[in-house]
Amino acid sequence: MDVVLFGPPGAGKGTQSKFLMTRLGVPQISTGDMMRAERKSGSELGQRFDSFMSKGLLVPDELVLELLAKRLDDADAAGGAIFDGFPRTVPQAIALDAILAKRGRKIDRVLALEVPESVIVDRISGRRTCQDCGQAYHVRYNPPPSTGRCTQCDSDRIVQRSDDKEETVRTRNGAYLKDTLPILDHYRANAGVVVSLDGTGAVEEVTKRLENALEGRTQ
Ligand code: AP5
Repeated sequence: MDVVLFGPPGAGKGTQSKFLMTRLGVPQISTGDMMRAERKSGSELGQRFDSFMSKGLLVPDELVLELLAKRLDDADAAGGAIFDGFPRTVPQAIALDAILAKRGRKIDRVLALEVPESVIVDRISGRRTCQDCGQAYHVRYNPPPSTGRCTQCDSDRIVQRSDDKEETVRTRNGAYLKDTLPILDHYRANAGVVVSLDGTGAVEEVTKRLENALEGRTQ
């Protein structure tokens, strides 16, 4: 099954992807995580990503699509994927349709998390992220352990992401409203593919709504 987990920055896509991976048995493909890994490697490509990401701007489509097409060739993505933070523009959505069609696949479901900007800013400004494995915490809602070590990989490098400052978050949300939200109309051309969900409330409540959406139950 191929699922787009859709929503503004800080909607909880990364958090809820963990549940979806277990539920569907397919990998999470996060273009943001892939770009951060490339940036961490110190490569020239990583520096190009950083010049956009650090300002809260979208990385140009051609750079993203190259990264994505390569990832879909990996064996673990042969049976489907959860796309987290991708596609981000209508041209990316059209390109993804073509990439999947070549593999005899299509987007089966777009799960769209709806979260107002005030909640986004609160969630992102309180987020702390493990630099080694990407695990997200929140200073109030899901605090990092008092030992300072990541629960997933034991790293002691739990930091604030450089693009998680309030001003950059507002720029990221602006890019979402202008370039990303119109993608929903692209997918709405196929009836029943897009399911919109309330992304506010506790993590477990949102997970329950996603579970219901996958089962075809009304919210
Ligand atoms: P990316 O890494 O994709 O970031 P994003 O979409 O902005 O989303 P986030 O990772 O910020 O949030 P999330 O929805 O995963 O929320 P999370 O679960 O962490 O992109 C970063 C940048 O890379 C972009 O700005 C762009 O430059 C570039 N980029 C990436 N992909 C691109 C593409 N395809 N094209 C072009 N450019 C691209 O949750 C947030 C916080 O809230 C956490 O602290 C979490 O613990 C907490 N939280 C989650 N759910 C709840 C809840 N229910 N209640 C309370 N707290 C919660």
